[in-house]
Amino acid sequence: MKPRFYSTPSAQLAAQAWQARGDGRSGPGLAIVGVGMMGREHLRVASLLGRARVCGIYDSNAESIHRALRDFAAYSDRKLNVYDSLDALCADDSVDAFLICTPNFSHWSVFERLVVTGKPMLLEKPMATSLADARRMVDVASDYPGLIQLGMQYRFKAQYVEAFHAIQNDHVLGSVRTVAMSEYRPPFLDKVDQWNKFNRFSGGTLVEKCCHYFDLINLMAAASPVKVYAQGGRAVNFLDFERGGEQSDIDDHAFVCVTYDDGTLANFTLNMFSQELYEELVVTGAEGRVVASEHASFRQGIRSSAHIKIEVADHPAYRGCEVTYPQAIETSGHSGSTFFEHLAFVEQLEGAVVDAATPSQGLWSLIVAAAAQQSLSTGEVVFIDEFCARQQVALP
Ligand SMILES: NC(=O)c1ccc[n+]([C@@H]2O[C@H](COP(=O)([O-])OP(=O)(O)OC[C@H]3O[C@@H](n4cnc5c(N)ncnc54)[C@H](O)[C@@H]3O)[C@@H](O)[C@H]2O)c1
Repeated sequence: MKPRFYSTPSAQLAAQAWQARGDGRSGPGLAIVGVGMMGREHLRVASLLGRARVCGIYDSNAESIHRALRDFAAYSDRKLNVYDSLDALCADDSVDAFLICTPNFSHWSVFERLVVTGKPMLLEKPMATSLADARRMVDVASDYPGLIQLGMQYRFKAQYVEAFHAIQNDHVLGSVRTVAMSEYRPPFLDKVDQWNKFNRFSGGTLVEKCCHYFDLINLMAAASPVKVYAQGGRAVNFLDFERGGEQSDIDDHAFVCVTYDDGTLANFTLNMFSQELYEELVVTGAEGRVVASEHASFRQGIRSSAHIKIEVADHPAYRGCEVTYPQAIETSGHSGSTFFEHLAFVEQLEGAVVDAATPSQGLWSLIVAAAAQQSLSTGEVVFIDEFCARQQVALP
């Protein structure tokens, strides 16, 4: 039997979220710091969801502000404040919460400035480019009066919602023994000042891009990572790229193995010189296998599609089914996952208990990512406790 789309957890979530949309004129006031590609996605998605008012934006680049205002005017008749400094933003009492969407290397300095307000914030991934800064954020968060949610929204992609539901709510696999994830995709896109072409600005490819996947793998393994080994490098992309006399140094492919303290084994494959985007998560236990996959594209006219297969005896999704969100949600950004990230953020601001990424989970994903980045450059196995101790970073 093939489950009908509307009976799956992701479809129920989509239906409820769609019905609960607001008009964007009431609800908490949001301000977005950094309105490049991701900041504009947050602006658009917050408006689509309509459960919060976007009050204003701040960006150090005039062209980014211009693009954000132009985009916003295309779907909203509301006025957007443009702050001329972080001080002006912090002084605005109509702002209830911040979204930090600046490049990775600037997260700590923006965060440090905004935390004096005590207001809630959504901080884009990866939380920082160094473990020390990320650890300082976790320490601040531990007695911070407001919510701090991490921008690891891939956990809200439809196929992973289904996988989590089957594995952790319904326990279809028994205990999880192996987790395998892969991403095949085209090269990194252009960014303002091309910060993502340099390890010192992004933290490295496995940190910048793959912290999402290490977050998902950590959640699936539900155990603590002990050691990491990675191979990879620069095979195809940006080999001749330079900016201001500096040569790009980012990796474009990797194979990563992670061992967890309960014996669960995980691997992750990255390839960034593919034409289309494919993600796959395969989780196994004694009872069988769950396969969650997605095809997306940077090409016009190709919509993303998400699937799940639950190869467990007599399971109704044994042969698989499509779980893609409805089009208006799916096309709003990152296959609809940013929409649910906003829903989680607003519901948490309203006092609900929601399963969104915490600063500690953000730090764990960064620890695995940074250890993989280190292993890739040295060729050696990285033991997590030694790796963190050497950097004087206490485990979360
Ligand atoms: N969650 C996701 O799936 C996802 C996807 C893409 C990007 N991101 C993250 O979002 C962040 C931004 O990425 P992007 O793709 O939008 O980059 P981008 O280069 O397109 O935009 C960054 C913007 O921040 C501005 N900026 C830089 N420093 C600033 C500062 N100190 N104060 C104010 N503005 C500043 C830049 O002018 C630019 O407009 C990064 O941390 C990135 O990793 C997350």
